[in-house]
Amino acid sequence: MKVFEKVKIGNLTFDNRIGVPPMCTYLCETHDGVANDFHTAHYTTLAMGQPGFITQEATAVNEHGHISENCLGIYNPRQREMLKRIVDNVHHCGTKIGIQLNHAGFKNLFGNDRFGPMDDEGVIGLNVNQIQAIVHDFEYAAMWARELNYDFIEIHGAHGYLINQFLSPLSNQRDDLYGENRCLLLEQITEVCVKMFEGCVSVRLSAEEYEPNGLHMQDFPPIINRLKALGVSMISVSSGGLNKSPIYSYPLYQMPYAKYLKEHTDLPIMGVGLITTENEIERILEKRDCDLILLGRKLLRDPFFLLRWRDHIGMLSKDDVPEYLYRGIHTHS
Ligand SMILES: Cc1cc2nc3c(=O)[nH]c(=O)nc-3n(C[C@H](O)[C@H](O)[C@H](O)COP(=O)(O)O)c2cc1C
Repeated sequence: MKVFEKVKIGNLTFDNRIGVPPMCTYLCETHDGVANDFHTAHYTTLAMGQPGFITQEATAVNEHGHISENCLGIYNPRQREMLKRIVDNVHHCGTKIGIQLNHAGFKNLFGNDRFGPMDDEGVIGLNVNQIQAIVHDFEYAAMWARELNYDFIEIHGAHGYLINQFLSPLSNQRDDLYGENRCLLLEQITEVCVKMFEGCVSVRLSAEEYEPNGLHMQDFPPIINRLKALGVSMISVSSGGLNKSPIYSYPLYQMPYAKYLKEHTDLPIMGVGLITTENEIERILEKRDCDLILLGRKLLRDPFFLLRWRDHIGMLSKDDVPEYLYRGIHTHS
């Protein structure tokens, strides 16, 4: 596999194999989940760097789904009006954009009700009707994402948020159907999202929970097979979220999980985690350890990394970017 080659996933064709993973900006200063000029500028800048795609930061599907009071939402018209501007600007740069749909569960720091699989201090254990209401919120969010013209949606099943809380034996000891099948909530959400979005649906999973009694990569192939059967197009492999001690991260620290799931499933896999150099990217793709590579912090600090790389290897022409940017990139002094 080569980095600068087109790749078809579901009904989408990405121009190259590099994506931007979802990264919260925590900059909704109005605390209403509405994006502002900063968000538009931020995503437009990332788009001008011409990654294959951008995944917009975790965006709440309802008012108790926010991670923090500074996070985006998609559940009211004012929020959607500003999201439309982000999508249109990114598309204007010729880049694809997806949106990560999230419910933070008991990791909601917004200050309103905190819900989770089980009753706990300050946490309301969800009953079946409340669970169904959240499934509907995802369904609506997927429908709006389609209306707003996002190229794909990503269901946030990782990092210890609501879906991960239901998936994990660390946080789900329910004695009903949602405890017998800890994947049920993810399956129900996936089903409605696939139906409503009618396009490419990604799911992000924490393939290692860093706790002896938590989930490990070997637990995921059956889950991913079920997601494939439900119509999911690609999987983003991350880790952690419910761990008690901090995660030790080092270059490529999550790639073993991505490689394992690439070998043991047949959905396209996104790998991520302190991947920062041309050499690392080329080696991962040569070995076919995953299909798509996500560069997070690397592209935050260096959004034009891919343009400079292409220029260096003679794969950037004047017509690929606006003239002023070409003059900035194509300079060797
Ligand atoms: C500022 C910041 C915000 C993040 N927000 C999200 C998020 O909204 N959703 C998510 O799934 N991961 C989030 N992450 C994790 C990243 O998507 C990515 O997996 C992680 O940074 C590792 O990749 P990297 O080493 O290339 O940055 C965030 C990371 C950072 C640095």
